[in-house]
Amino acid sequence: MTEDKVTGTLVFAVLTAVLGSFQFGYDIGVINAPQQVIITHYRHVLGVPLDDRKAINNYAINSTEELPTGPYPGDPTPTSWAEEETTASASLIIMLWSLSVSIFAIGGMIASFFGGLLGDQLGRIKAMLVANILSLVGALLMGFSKLGPSHILIISGRGISGLYCGLISGLVPMYIGEIAPTTFRGAIGALHQLAIVTGILISQIIGLDFLLGNHELWHILLGLSAVPAVLQSLMLFFCPESPRYLYIKLDEEAKARKSLKRLRGSDDVTKDITEMRKEREEASSEKKVSIIQLFTNSSYRQPILVALMLHMAQQFSGINGIFYYSTSIFQTAGISQPVYATIGVGVVNTIFTALSVFLVEKAGRRSLFLIGMSGMFVCAIFMSVGLVLLNKLAWMSYVSMTAIFLFVSFFEIGPGPIPWFMVAEFFSQGPRPAALAMAAFSNWTCNFIIALCFQYIADFCGPYVFFLFAGVVLVFTLFTFFKVPETKGKSFEEIAAEFQKKSGSAKTPKAAVEMEFLGATETV
Ligand code: GLC
Repeated sequence: MTEDKVTGTLVFAVLTAVLGSFQFGYDIGVINAPQQVIITHYRHVLGVPLDDRKAINNYAINSTEELPTGPYPGDPTPTSWAEEETTASASLIIMLWSLSVSIFAIGGMIASFFGGLLGDQLGRIKAMLVANILSLVGALLMGFSKLGPSHILIISGRGISGLYCGLISGLVPMYIGEIAPTTFRGAIGALHQLAIVTGILISQIIGLDFLLGNHELWHILLGLSAVPAVLQSLMLFFCPESPRYLYIKLDEEAKARKSLKRLRGSDDVTKDITEMRKEREEASSEKKVSIIQLFTNSSYRQPILVALMLHMAQQFSGINGIFYYSTSIFQTAGISQPVYATIGVGVVNTIFTALSVFLVEKAGRRSLFLIGMSGMFVCAIFMSVGLVLLNKLAWMSYVSMTAIFLFVSFFEIGPGPIPWFMVAEFFSQGPRPAALAMAAFSNWTCNFIIALCFQYIADFCGPYVFFLFAGVVLVFTLFTFFKVPETKGKSFEEIAAEFQKKSGSAKTPKAAVEMEFLGATETV
């Protein structure tokens, strides 16, 4: 048997796949820096009555260039845009902007259910190719949004890009997990999150106002995700199909061997074939579990609730409040160059994600999650204290800024990457696909809630906003402490036993689901 090695084909295939994760990150981060520029454009196109401009200024607090409360420079007379009575109010503009940010997560929410399904129907490679059509359509709508009713084009473009991201948040981890040799599975799996944060960082950099985040070029900034989409589509033609899909799903051993030989750079692929044969036997001995059964069967109830809570904790920590709105948060915190501080967040985020790739295999998942959440709790308190005392002590702006940087670092140490792969460790082959679909759905739903509500909550709570998130993080930290078992280095049976201990159930999940399939009613 041969040693696991990293071949050129493997590197190429992984890089190609994570170009999808990169687009996901790009779409998350891209909306942050040009917020004010696009809001100004919406206002301009829809024609906002002069009195309402002040309200928008208060809302778009990241503006370095205030909207004038008198006639706007270059404004046509109201009648040439729209009649006075049909002009949009400030609240409509705010609503349209919140929708432009959050509809992305609605798309993600819907599509997250179908990523696995599409991958099984078409194969991983074709599924990623087809998904790219959505990415291209979304990018084109946004890229050409200046030519039509831009608010409608941007909102629909963001929604379609969200659909793409929902699909690939299932497809990419699936494909790279399946082609990775056992020794590198953890590290290669974590490259998905690393590519996401790199996408966020790049979008923040090219969103600077002297690059593309300005009145002339913002539409190019939004449409630029078409570039990785085209690149990925071309590269996918040269990627080998997942040997696991070919062997376990299609029963095409010869094709699976061919693909493995390319990926491993060796004619001896016995080790992988043996491993896959074991997986196939496991899969055929276990019945598929539906989403409803995950909740009605008492043996799955505990792990699925913990899985959903981990994703809720990740999103309700408020992390995407920072990624979608950090420029405006920094502005409130009195930082003079908020856009550069946002880029600082992106850099710190990328560094700590890279670090977590190594940490996660050394320390336990549960302990890293707890350390990350506790750290975020403390940072959220400091963020709010900094904002509250800003009027009295000017140096408090540095306290808030440092706290935001540390908040993001703690997030990437545990709560960022861990939920994405820990859920798969909770479940055996039978219930895993349904559990992963539910987990992704929970993640995207909470992402949507934060995207839609964060700005309203921030306006309502003022500088106290992060006290609220500190409270939420504390609740999830306690939940993790009492309910989440350690999974590192444990077999599936050992993990299931831990869950049974916590829920007081005596049956193994496999035995329990078999009883259900035999028609036994279950009353634990
Ligand atoms: C995780 C989250 C995603 C977030 C990102 C930030 O991938 O699921 O919503 O934007 O981390 O790094």
